[in-house]
Amino acid sequence: MTVVAVDPVAPDPAVAVRAGRVLGAGGLVALPTETVYGLAAAVSDGEALARVFAVKGRPATDPLIVHVTDVDQARSVVGDLPDRARALARHFWPGPLTLVLPRTAAVPDVVTAGGPTVAVRVPAHPVALAVIAEAGGPVAAPSANRFGRISPTTAAHVLAELADRLDPSRDLVLDAGPALLGVESTVVDLTGARPRLLRPGGVALEDLEAVLGPVDHTEREVRPEADAASAPGRFLRHYAPTTPLVLAEADRATVDRLVAELADRGLRARTVDLPADADRAAPVLYATLREADAEGRDLLVVTPLPPGGLGRAVNDRLFRAAHGRIVTDASAATVDRLVALARS
Ligand code: TXA
Ligand code: MG
Repeated sequence: MTVVAVDPVAPDPAVAVRAGRVLGAGGLVALPTETVYGLAAAVSDGEALARVFAVKGRPATDPLIVHVTDVDQARSVVGDLPDRARALARHFWPGPLTLVLPRTAAVPDVVTAGGPTVAVRVPAHPVALAVIAEAGGPVAAPSANRFGRISPTTAAHVLAELADRLDPSRDLVLDAGPALLGVESTVVDLTGARPRLLRPGGVALEDLEAVLGPVDHTEREVRPEADAASAPGRFLRHYAPTTPLVLAEADRATVDRLVAELADRGLRARTVDLPADADRAAPVLYATLREADAEGRDLLVVTPLPPGGLGRAVNDRLFRAAHGRIVTDASAATVDRLVALARS
């Protein structure tokens, strides 16, 4: 696969031009954003968009986020922004906030999964912005991982996920070093009477509410996969390692006892340790899960972070990576349950 290194702060304009040409010719560009790496295609190119779904193995019912350079370009996909959207754009763009708004006719069905709304954001990354500018129009970019798997925060992660699925003669991977934020954008739906949080992410709910007032949200909302079309992006099996993982809502001593009991039963289990401070945990979350997964253990155990700020986004990803499995004690019943899970 062709990988081109590019400075994350002051990207070489020639690299952006090259990436813009790749997009113009129907190719895909894996590019850095401040959140995670994305797999970009021109919104105007239906065939390239279809390849994004094919390469990721993503169901056609799960719509893509459109990435634009600024509010003006956003208007090409959503028309005039309502007041609430303009206020949010002023506060948080460029940045990790995605707005769901009614779409214009310029947005093809493949991007929105046929729905009446489109998700749009201005990424806060010089490389992403330069590439979109050179593409001459909006680009759609999901995270550059296989569907349901751990999102990539480095170009090496992108290659581990997609190298064998990309076309070296048409596509390009840009390497600008690690994504600094480490969790995806916050997705907020502005199409209803009240704003609604669809995915916690890089902009904290508290900060959204400081601008918008109350934002509807559901703790640990999970929809059956069959219901994806009416609730895009809320699949439970997301961000998941291949090693079974459980979320332990218990103190350290209980978790250590649990892991020891599992070892006594012959399981190679370990805890996944993240910094307690969410601002420090988010940037290493996905790399830490990837490394733990690569050890080929029988079971991974992780504890949630305090829920404020980025903690909400990190905990959401951990809950989904755990497929919603939670343990709260180290009882014999819990140990039995986890032994069965690891052996299944
Ligand atoms: O930080 C991010 O948002 C990254 C970077 C690359 O920008 N992108 C990303 O894309 O996370 P993806 O495709 O992995 O996640 C997009 C989420 C999905 O949960 C999708 O269902 C939801 O946004 N989404 C997209 N369009 C939507 C729409 N019209 N209505 C509701 N949800 C939508
Ligand atoms: Mg994703």
